Amino acid sequence: MKPTIVIILLLAFAACTTQIYVPSDANVNKRQTASLEELKQGHKLYGDKCGACHKLPNPKSFSSQQWTKILEKMGPQAKLDKAQVDLVYKYVVNY
Ligand code: HEC
Repeated sequence: MKPTIVIILLLAFAACTTQIYVPSDANVNKRQTASLEELKQGHKLYGDKCGACHKLPNPKSFSSQQWTKILEKMGPQAKLDKAQVDLVYKYVVNY
């Protein structure tokens, strides 16, 4: 393969992956009560479960009210139980 083709393929791949934030101390209790451990679990669930059918949405794209509605619909889609939905919620609103 020519180097240019490799570069184009790499760029195409990079464009498909959404950058989602990695939780740190700065995110703890930022908007909703959540420990760093909960945020890390939510981050992992989000990355593992929510990108299966569509691109991972950027948590910053929606308000906490919007996320409540979205997760009511998407939690069952991703086969998450209530506790897992709660962890994902804590992650997506504490950006
Ligand atoms: C089984 C497939 C599937 C999984 C898994 C899934 N989604 Fe979705 N998602 C969809 C479909 C289909 C749509 C578009 C239709 C709709 O809005 O119902 C959508 C739409 C969305 C939207 C756009 C809603 C809007 O109002 O613009 C968001 C945000 C979203 N999903 C977040 C998530 C999150 C967060 C998870 C993980 C908990 C998740 N999705 C898991 C299928 C899925």
